[in-house]
Amino acid sequence: MIAQIALRDAIARLNDHAIASAPRDARVLLSYAMGIDPSRLTLELSQTLDQDVLDRFQNVIDQRCAHKPVSRILGYRDFWGRRFRITADVLDPRGDTETLVQAVVTQPATRVLDLGTGSGILAVTLAAEWPAAQVVASDISPDALDVARHNAQALGVQDRVSCVQSDWFDQIDGRYDLIVSNPPYITDREMAELQPDVLHFDPKIALTPGGDGLHPYRVISAQAAAFLNAGGRIAVEIGWQQGPVVAELFRAAGFRDVAVLTDLDGKDRVVVANWP
Ligand SMILES: C[S@@+](CC[C@H](N)C(=O)[O-])C[C@H]1O[C@@H](n2cnc3c(N)ncnc32)[C@H](O)[C@@H]1O
Repeated sequence: MIAQIALRDAIARLNDHAIASAPRDARVLLSYAMGIDPSRLTLELSQTLDQDVLDRFQNVIDQRCAHKPVSRILGYRDFWGRRFRITADVLDPRGDTETLVQAVVTQPATRVLDLGTGSGILAVTLAAEWPAAQVVASDISPDALDVARHNAQALGVQDRVSCVQSDWFDQIDGRYDLIVSNPPYITDREMAELQPDVLHFDPKIALTPGGDGLHPYRVISAQAAAFLNAGGRIAVEIGWQQGPVVAELFRAAGFRDVAVLTDLDGKDRVVVANWP
């Protein structure tokens, strides 16, 4: 079969399964099946596909029809200019989390703690951006830590990223110049309305702490001061409706210069604060 025909049929199948991004997804998945960069696909569309390429393409289109996100089918996600492995054990990193990196990256820190590291995107990105940084990447999930360890190794920062299994601060020692966290924050009510691409593929522990979604912020704001050096900073990702309440938690805990920053869509996304 000619690649262009296979692509047309795949787009029709994805549309039948209500995949909103059908044309884009089909192109990315066909490039993957053909083993070429997506930027070359148009040049190769008149090719006749070998049966093994066709089988591979049908297989990935079947997965996408079942609402598996493209990044999970490919097994990686690009974040802040680097490629990170993702597995079923970690959150599929979101572009919005780059807002947190943007908020902190211009002020390099030496000792950094990432709470709820998942695939390690924050810990590994900051270690890679700041060659003098020593980073502790912690998570309650040992399987997530295996993925973070892999990514630290693959991106050459394994000597400066230590992975620690911990329920928030429980197993954390020492003091840090910067604490970052993208904790689970989806409320019970929002969980009931999640798209299947998220609900069935991201680990529940990475999405929600239950209830009003604020439990991790209560723990982190109450305990962070004991793990920060004087003049230390904290930056946490938040749900777009959580800015005022999370900012207030940090103010009430004695933090200064508390600010809510917006993402590229103009939605509240990150709370930053300084420890005096
Ligand atoms: C929203 S995901 C963020 C993952 C990654 N930092 C990112 O931005 O893609 C939240 C992470 O917090 C971890 N987590 C959930 N409860 C935790 C707890 N009590 N202590 C530490 N980590 C926890 C989850 O396993 C998950 O990896």
